[in-house]
Amino acid sequence: MAKYLVTGAAGFIGRSIAAELLARGETVRGIDSFITGKRENLRGLEEMEFIEGDLADPATCAAACAGVEVVFHEAALASVPRSVADPVSTNVNCVDATLNVLVAARAAGVRRVVYAGSSSAYGESPTLPKREDMAPDPISPYAVAKLAGEHYMRSFWRVYGLETVVLRYFNVFGPYQDPASHYSGVLAIFCRKMLTDEQPTIYGDGQQSRDFTYIENVVQANLLAAAAPAEKVAGAMMNAATGSRITLNETFRLLCGLTGYGGAPAYAPSRAGDIRDSLADIQLAKELLGYAPKVDFEEGLRRTLEWYRSTSTERFVSQSTVM
Ligand code: UD1
Repeated sequence: MAKYLVTGAAGFIGRSIAAELLARGETVRGIDSFITGKRENLRGLEEMEFIEGDLADPATCAAACAGVEVVFHEAALASVPRSVADPVSTNVNCVDATLNVLVAARAAGVRRVVYAGSSSAYGESPTLPKREDMAPDPISPYAVAKLAGEHYMRSFWRVYGLETVVLRYFNVFGPYQDPASHYSGVLAIFCRKMLTDEQPTIYGDGQQSRDFTYIENVVQANLLAAAAPAEKVAGAMMNAATGSRITLNETFRLLCGLTGYGGAPAYAPSRAGDIRDSLADIQLAKELLGYAPKVDFEEGLRRTLEWYRSTSTERFVSQSTVM
């Protein structure tokens, strides 16, 4: 019987958490619907018990949670523009799915649910860095959906005593992030394009900034959140990030140096629902979890590029129609 359930286990972040749990000798069950998850991402996770299923279905959630002690709820449609194009799907796959997971977790006697929150909840307020005590101001339907999930987490702690911990991720990047969809994260897209000598597009003037967080740091935050004492973390929400930021223009220049790409970027109008700047205060995660980012942005970029280089481009080309 698995001790841990990872939802979205064939996705970028879920896959990475599952791999680390397995490496530590833990028993893991994964679930994925393959709406955005990739079967290829399950390679190397053969020891994981796997369920193909949709969290929008309560019976599937019940089967996934049976016998489990801790759930890492990573499944989502993780894209701002996708939610602008189709807010209903985002709601079903983020809000309904999260509520179903919580109901099933409670019924199954799960002890703790760790939830993938999003820094998009902070929205457009100009104050930096973003601290957890700031009022949320979601702009996109995606941000609203991820924030609703946070509220459900806290509610299940308050009302039912199910231990929940919310980690607000800031622009996570790294190996296994799908670069082939235009809904992908910017670093995945830029890495793939610049390695294959394709011109990347910057939406807006490129002066928007992000607290890009390498995947290993986020995995670490999740494992700490699962293990921390309930007195400290149950019902809590905290940022998971690096606490530093970089603009897209600077990132592009850095990637030119690392990839040898010699061209200029194309510039296009900003995307609807985008926020301008994002930077986390990571003090709370330090205090509550003992979290400290281990891999900085440049080192993370180097490792990510190495992975895209070593991974067949066919893998991505064959998926470019999947969105
Ligand atoms: C990302 C995540 C989201 C997460 C949020 C907060 C993805 C797909 N989205 O949103 O799940 O909740 O961070 O952590 O990972 N851009 C370009 N060119 C491109 C693609 C993007 O200029 O080809 C720009 C965007 O307009 C935006 C910035 O890059 O200004 C970052 O975009 P993106 O990587 O999609 O992340 P967020 O929208 O910040």
